Formats: sequence, C-alpha cells, structure tokens
Amino acid sequence: MAKEVKEVFFGVKQLKDDVWWVGVKDWEIRRFHGEEYTTHRGSTYNSYLVRDEKLALVDTVWTPFHADFVQELERTVGLDRIDLVVINHTEQDHAGSLAYLMERIPDKPIYCTKNGAALIKGHFHRDYNLKVVKTGDTVDLGRNKLVFIEAPMLHWPDTMFTYVAGANVLLSNDAFGQHYASPFFFNDQVDQGELFQEAIKYYANILTPFSKLVRAKIKELVDMKVPVEMIAPSHGIIWRENPLQIVGKYDEWAADYHEGSVVVLYDTMWGATRKLAWAIARGLEKKGVPVKVFNTARSDHNDLITEVFKAKGVVVGSSTINRGILSSTAAILETIRGLQFKNKVAASFGSYGWSGESPGVIEAKLREGGFAIAVEPIKAQWDPSEQDLAAGEAFGEAFAGAL
Ligand code: FEO
Repeated sequence: MAKEVKEVFFGVKQLKDDVWWVGVKDWEIRRFHGEEYTTHRGSTYNSYLVRDEKLALVDTVWTPFHADFVQELERTVGLDRIDLVVINHTEQDHAGSLAYLMERIPDKPIYCTKNGAALIKGHFHRDYNLKVVKTGDTVDLGRNKLVFIEAPMLHWPDTMFTYVAGANVLLSNDAFGQHYASPFFFNDQVDQGELFQEAIKYYANILTPFSKLVRAKIKELVDMKVPVEMIAPSHGIIWRENPLQIVGKYDEWAADYHEGSVVVLYDTMWGATRKLAWAIARGLEKKGVPVKVFNTARSDHNDLITEVFKAKGVVVGSSTINRGILSSTAAILETIRGLQFKNKVAASFGSYGWSGESPGVIEAKLREGGFAIAVEPIKAQWDPSEQDLAAGEAFGEAFAGAL
C-alpha cells in the first residue's frame, strides 16, 4: 500500500489518480536562463511523483530550492519510499536538486536517455546507478506503467517525455510549459489570456528553432494512439481540461506561424530614426496592415521576440553610430538571428549624419536570420525632411505589398 501523504500548499498536491506534484512555485524570479529570459509572472519547477506499489520521482527542481525540496519529500513522502528517479532533462531548473537528493538515496536507479546519462555525468561528476532508456521502454510500477519517449532537441539533446500509462498523464518536461506562477494548478482555473501569453512567449523564445522536430514529435505522439487525459509540463500550469488543446497550438505555432501583422523595431539617438519608423508604420496602416512599433532600448526583448513570432513582416531600424548600429538593435538582432524564424519577410532603415552604414548592417543580420528581404533599405541624413518622411511612407506601402 502506498503511504498516505499530507497535502500542503507548498510541496505536494495530488493531480490525478496516483500522480502527484511535488514542485516549487517561484513567485519572485524575474530573469531565467541567467539573465536571458524575463519571467514577469514568475515560474514553477514541477517535479512529479507516481505513488504506486513502486514510487517513482520524475525530475527534481532548480538548485536553489534543493534543501526545501528534499526536506518536503522527506517530511511528506519519506525518501526511503522512493524506488526510482526519472530525469527527463538535465538542465539545472529540473535536475539541479538531483545531486542533493542522491546523497540521501545513492543506490536508487535513475532512468534517463543516453544523452541524459552523459549530461548527468557532465553536470555532477559522480557515478550513479543510471538506467539508459529508449523510446518505448517501460517500467512497471503496479497500477501504472512508465513509458519513455525520447524527444532530442526539444529542447536539449537529452530531453525525453514520460507517459504514465494507467493514469494516462503525459509528463512532457519543458514542452507545453509556461513561466507562470499561480495559486492554481490547472488550465481551467486561470486567466486564459495570461496562460496563452506565457505559453506563446515560451514557444517563441525557446522552441522556435526546433519547430520541425516539434511537428514530428506531435505526429509521433498522435500515432501512438494512447489516451492523454492530462499533460503535465515541468513549468507552469497543468493541462487537464481539453489537454490536447496545447498540442494543437504547438502544431500551429510550429508551422511557420504568423498573424499577418508587421512589427517595426527601432532605436534612435535624437529622434530621427523614430520619425522614420512612424512614417513606415503610416505607410503600412494606409495599406490596412496591422502594425506595432517598439523602441528596442525601452522594450522587453523576450516580449519583442513574441511580437516577431506573431508577425509576418519585421522592419528594423537604427541610427548609425561608429559605422554600425545601436546596442539595443544589435542585441535584438542577435536573438532574432539565432531563432531562425521561417516564412517571414524583413527590411531595414535608419538615419545617419555622415557615413550611414546602419541599414546595411541590419539587413545583413536579417539575412543571417533567414529572412527574405522584401524591399531595399532606406536612410535619411540628419533629421528627416518632408521628402524623407514621404519615402518612409512609400517604403511602408511597398513592404505591405510584399507580405
Ligand atoms: Fe530546459 Fe526548463 O529547462
């Protein structure tokens, strides 16, 4: 018989049948992945426990929470009750507490992928009782069976999902997650706007480069024809009401998603590039194209990436400085380049005093990012004249025509 556990707000919550949440709600985090990803609504590190005749712990929590995590497991479950550990992914936000846990249960087996085994070694430099698994391998717990599904590069080489057959819960690790702390646990309990804003931001900023693999993995999951009654990712809210809705969204987002809009991103020293940005926006509006305009120095870059993800066209501008571009424009372009968006068009513009390299520098970076350049760049010297602003509007109209 499984030992009874006491439900508490922080630490342990029964989700469905034998599947329990044993995670951490991090209300205070505002930067994730070092300083790279903004988490306006906090995050959660979801670890799961399948409490059956055998007791399996799936993933742990981020390193700073290791003491509370292990203590809560000891207090509410009993560490000696854990029969095996599954590590779906070795990034520190999920495996960071593993070493501390294993100090207490050093001989218990850890199930992971082949890449996971190498990464556990690389992170912790210790010898554990590792059990390497492949897609389709299973572990019988009694009423439930764990079924492992490798998911390499979603989003690390080691990643896998664990399907709990019996409870019919998919423990999908990072996939289908959101950086979103809430007093609630389930998708039907929270503000849908907040939930999907965090879900699309997460996809845009983390999963965009792996979209082909996302579509292939979704097809593989669908072809398995297993019942999925709940999808429990390792961050944020758990999908229990119509759980496949987020799978449908991922399929849509992975298919070179856009909403037909244009985003104009600019930075400016004395306002000249800003005037051009708004002239371009007026041209786009004249043609009926929904357009948003952002100053890259004053906007959250992860939110801007979400806007780029939703746009069909991206127009980027900067003043010329030292024969190059302003630092905020360079920073967002580097992120855009790395994400390799598909099926979007782009163009560049800028203002200058005496050399005027910025539009060319921006265009080269956009090409590196895989964008088709829709119209020739424009630039204005010193403060834009009436003719320069008219050219900006014409540029916006031409860009609208190329969407
Ligand atoms: Fe890839 Fe949530 O860590």
